Amino acid sequence: MKALAYNEFGTTAVLQTVELPKPTVKADEVLVKLKAFSINPMDWKIRKGEMKLMSGSKFPKLTGTDFAGIIEETGTSVTGLKKGDEVFGVVKNMKVGASAEYVAVTASLVWKKPSSISFTQAASIPVAGIAAVTSIQKMGKIDSQTTILINGATGGFGMFLLQLLRQQGANVTAVSSPKGLAYAKEWGADTVIDYTKENVLTEKVSYDIVIDLSGKMGYKNAKRIMNAKAIFLNPTPKTIEIPLSFFANLFTAKKHIVILSSPSTKYTDVLLNEVENGLQIEVNKAFPFTQYREAYDYAEQGGYIGKVAVEIN
Ligand SMILES: NC(=O)c1ccc[n+]([C@@H]2O[C@H](COP(=O)([O-])OP(=O)(O)OC[C@H]3O[C@@H](n4cnc5c(N)ncnc54)[C@H](OP(=O)(O)O)[C@@H]3O)[C@@H](O)[C@H]2O)c1
Repeated sequence: MKALAYNEFGTTAVLQTVELPKPTVKADEVLVKLKAFSINPMDWKIRKGEMKLMSGSKFPKLTGTDFAGIIEETGTSVTGLKKGDEVFGVVKNMKVGASAEYVAVTASLVWKKPSSISFTQAASIPVAGIAAVTSIQKMGKIDSQTTILINGATGGFGMFLLQLLRQQGANVTAVSSPKGLAYAKEWGADTVIDYTKENVLTEKVSYDIVIDLSGKMGYKNAKRIMNAKAIFLNPTPKTIEIPLSFFANLFTAKKHIVILSSPSTKYTDVLLNEVENGLQIEVNKAFPFTQYREAYDYAEQGGYIGKVAVEIN
């Protein structure tokens, strides 16, 4: 089978296709023939060597996390999934890559694909969707009085977060580039701000919850626009911020909460329920597998709405 791999950290130039044996399944695993995978910032941050503490520096490395496809084989102890099921899932550790024709993955990280969505849409759900559900849990009690700012609201994570927050009835302000403004409104933002025209940090408005999905704001800056007991949710922490935020929170009313989401059925159940209720999954562009480098380049440049995916025939 073909898989994407690299032998050194770097740009998309280091990505290449390699021929590997089709994976064999362990008792608790399923073998999935992929129809699509989506690209997450985590995939290219690892490839660029920006997450070495997590990824280590051993090569070759496979890449890709989110996938959707059809089950070809099930391990002996797998129940609830069978050959031929249309599924989507996520590979948890960095030894397996979902940018490949097949993955063998623990059955607990594979879920049945609703028939109402395509493989490409299903492959867009796990990392971004699970992070959105995790973030909402970290927000605590939310009601119509709660003011929330989402900075960078129309990428993959923001797309799920906005729509899930709409169910909670919070008062949401979304910051986006111009082409995302209409999407942000459609997905539930009460107010939209174009970051190319306005600087949210200098407006005289403050919020109960600030979540930065751009990775460019930072807790220090965010404090300026946080109410007295507000929280800052940070899904892109620097390594040092993980312990630091914990200790700093003991002494300050404005909390800095690091988000480190981890896949689990309790999160995908929430998302699958929302899919039934009409959750929109915008795949901005899907590339054929042969154009994997263009796909990663496109995703890394930014400027897209929702997700970028790769389809495998
Ligand atoms: N910790 C976790 O568990 C976890 C899980 C999932 C994701 N993440 C992280 O969360 C972040 C968001 O994920 P994602 O999948 O949504 O990424 P994404 O699709 O790349 O979205 C990032 C968004 O930030 C916007 N942005 C860029 N510059 C901005 C600026 N100066 N001001 C305001 N917005 C700006 C982008 O808009 P334009 O492209 O239009 O500029 C884009 O919509 C990533 O860094 C990812 O690694 C963390």
